[in-house]
Amino acid sequence: MKKIKIELEDFLKTILPDQKLFKFLSLAQDVSKKRGEFLYFAGGVVRDYLLKKLYKKKIPKTKDLDLVLQGELRSFLKELFEKVKGEILFESQFLTYKVKVNLNGKEFLIDFITARKEVYEDIAKLPKVFTSHFKDDILRRDFTINALIIGLSPPYEGILIDLVKGEEDLKKGLIRPLNLNSFVDDPTRIFRGIRYKVRFGFNFSEDFFLALKRCFEKSALKKLSGTRLANELKLYLTKEPEKNLKDLLMTTYELNIFEEAELKIDKKNFNSLIRLLKELKGEITEKEKEKFFLFGLVNPHFLESLYRLGFLDPEVKELIRYKGFIKETLPNWEKISLWEKIKIFEKIPLTYLLTLGVYFPKIKKEVVKFFKEYRKIKPELTGEELIKLGVKEGKEIGALLDLIRKEKVEGKVKSKEEEKNLVNQFLLKKSKN
Ligand code: CTP
Repeated sequence: MKKIKIELEDFLKTILPDQKLFKFLSLAQDVSKKRGEFLYFAGGVVRDYLLKKLYKKKIPKTKDLDLVLQGELRSFLKELFEKVKGEILFESQFLTYKVKVNLNGKEFLIDFITARKEVYEDIAKLPKVFTSHFKDDILRRDFTINALIIGLSPPYEGILIDLVKGEEDLKKGLIRPLNLNSFVDDPTRIFRGIRYKVRFGFNFSEDFFLALKRCFEKSALKKLSGTRLANELKLYLTKEPEKNLKDLLMTTYELNIFEEAELKIDKKNFNSLIRLLKELKGEITEKEKEKFFLFGLVNPHFLESLYRLGFLDPEVKELIRYKGFIKETLPNWEKISLWEKIKIFEKIPLTYLLTLGVYFPKIKKEVVKFFKEYRKIKPELTGEELIKLGVKEGKEIGALLDLIRKEKVEGKVKSKEEEKNLVNQFLLKKSKN
């Protein structure tokens, strides 16, 4: 067991997102000392600190502070809340607690984890967990670079503990699983490994490939649930810098992960998908964006693949129907007027339309323009104003509003005054008939 002395104050200063948390941590330290239970930081927070300090890597501030206790966490927290205003928000089946604390009027969310051992009884299924010693808690982890811990209380206060040569791998820039069965137990780790490789510009160790081989032999990726598989892919989008997406997808593709997970993916679509995602900034909700990402990723000739990602029958059937609809119009696409195209696009829900923009390069440009511009063009005149001008209530109003939109899209009408003129012309023609 390698032990290295660490400047605890410097560590905390570097990792804490807010200085108010200092006081909180020193109270947590006091409680753990009084109870004789070992409290420590583990995972990403330790890894990122070392990358920053020892190897001068530019790393964004860690968001999750994983604070682990070798002991009885529930009563520990009860004792802590006698000193700090706080409450347990959520307790998971994995002996973890999401906690909210109030420090001088400001609220913070902190994850507390019980030092635990994991037992995987079934391939690619969630493990059974048991309270255990910190050494087991280190050895249950995914990669050596994530298996370093820094103690906050005795017997290892201010000590970095390295059981798995994680520091060496950090130095060498290597992603190494802790054991060769790691991806059989939990294939989501493959996606995590790919994210770390791309995020830090690291390489896979030989053991990574051996563990991957074993995972393929046991068909573990096929046994991973659709929800968990979809979640891992969504993390490429939500947890990593946008500029890394292509690299993440290509690495996954080249390692044959998609195929092993029974997902038909067309790498020809990656560029279009990424470009469209860039265009969407702030225009659709995060949920819609994630759905579009998964839709756009699959090979359009095998949309059944979407069932593998947990999508439901009505959603997949709807996409297949709209795809068929666009495919039918495609041979005449050049001959169709802009307004007619807009009318087609308007019938298709946005997430589906964007997906079709990825599947059919021919319509991509117009889909983007529709999305960013055309769909937002609305008449300035209201229905009430139209009635005042003499338009009959009912169908006629709808038809006129549509006509104004058409003329605006085609650039023939530019101001409210011109909209009124258009309405008057329409009424005049009608009275002559
Ligand atoms: N972990 C694991 N296997 C998983 C998920 C998590 O072993 N499938 C362990 C790793 O030790 C990881 C820690 O739990 O470091 C915390 O997980 P998470 O918060 O997801 O990752 P971070 O290490 O904080 O990394 P990131 O910067 O990606 O958030």
